[in-house]
Amino acid sequence: MSAQDEHGGSSEKDESRREFLKTAAAISGVLALGGIASVMKSIVIPAVPGPSLPSFPRVKVSSLGELTTGTSLIFNYPLDTEPNVLVKLGQKASGGVGPDEDIVAFSQVCQHLGCIWGYVAPGQSPSVNKSYVAASPVAYCPCHGSVYDLTQGAKLIAGPSPRPQPQVKLEVDSAGNIYAVGMGAPAIFGHDTGSNDVSNDLQGGTLVAST
Ligand code: FES
Repeated sequence: MSAQDEHGGSSEKDESRREFLKTAAAISGVLALGGIASVMKSIVIPAVPGPSLPSFPRVKVSSLGELTTGTSLIFNYPLDTEPNVLVKLGQKASGGVGPDEDIVAFSQVCQHLGCIWGYVAPGQSPSVNKSYVAASPVAYCPCHGSVYDLTQGAKLIAGPSPRPQPQVKLEVDSAGNIYAVGMGAPAIFGHDTGSNDVSNDLQGGTLVAST
């Protein structure tokens, strides 16, 4: 026979009620936490816009009508202090534009130690080294003799440079105007040298204005 409490109920029943209430409180707590978790999952945190990065300008460099085979011209891109050479090679080249896919442009700052190279046509010699005769259109660096083949994306074919020269991305519009629109890897010498992140080319100076 179970004991009676002062209200006439049994103590066993009270104990069972307390256990029931404790279990119910625990379950409701778990359910509440689950509810909070599901609410948190459904909250979408809006992205905070970061600072906008500069992009490569689009700059007119020349036109098809102004170029004949062997023509080379120097232009600054993408910064107003960065020299590049555009050449009409007279033979199809990697990345070449124009009807003959022979117009290319490259950074003129040597990837070895930053000297300025010169264009040498096939069969010609650089003024600093008359014993060297170019077998193909090349960029020849007078400082330590690095030679880059301009038909193959300025791949190094002689000398100490560890990398090819960065190639300028060119486009030709329907009127024959030639535009520089970007740079290929590697980064221009002096802009995180050795990196393939060409966004470094846009830092450290004034961008040329799009035309
Ligand atoms: S800086 Fe061009 S070869 Fe050394």
